[in-house]
Amino acid sequence: MKRIVILISGRGSNMESMMTTAAAERWSAQIAAVISNKPDAAGLGIARDAGIPTAVVNHRDYLDRMQFDAALAAAIDQYQPDLVVLAGFMRILTENFVNHFAGRLINIHPSLLPSFTGLDTHQRAIDAGVKFHGATVHFVTSELDHGPIIAQAVVPVHENDDAEALAARVLEKEHQIYPRAVRDLLEGRLVLKGGRVVSTEVH
Ligand code: GRF
Repeated sequence: MKRIVILISGRGSNMESMMTTAAAERWSAQIAAVISNKPDAAGLGIARDAGIPTAVVNHRDYLDRMQFDAALAAAIDQYQPDLVVLAGFMRILTENFVNHFAGRLINIHPSLLPSFTGLDTHQRAIDAGVKFHGATVHFVTSELDHGPIIAQAVVPVHENDDAEALAARVLEKEHQIYPRAVRDLLEGRLVLKGGRVVSTEVH
């Protein structure tokens, strides 16, 4: 059985959608653990209630990013995951960490990458006047919010949108595309080839 480890820092709604989709679709893969860098992340309680093992690797307990990442990698390695899923995990990861999990580390970002990397994406999209916005699932590389794109979803930007309304519209899509992307990767329907993600299905 394939194993997934999910990393969170907060609310955990993407984690929760992964859990409920996996259960509803009876995935053969297993969410082996949920790990947070924040002890008070709300998502930890949701995972615990569902009987999923949880762990905290608090970045404040470490002197620097290298040490934190080494501890985090060790905590993840215990579960021998096929896929490490960042779901609202708010730490920048070192090159060592990213290389250690190369090809197994994915993230969801609330914009249509390569537009609007970084934080505050919804307000920046509104300020830029774009007519469409969205979310991207991508492999993690050492460059922040870059890496081969696995899946994207698009939403319209309405003229009266504020960041909160737009974020809610995007989040609904995130909850759809992230579980689907994870399943497609685990079941080999999508593969990384020559730095791009391609479908293995016959067209
Ligand atoms: C999501 O918008 C995700 O795209 C971004 O952080 C947010 C996490 O939300 N990386 P949640 O913790 O999954 O509810």
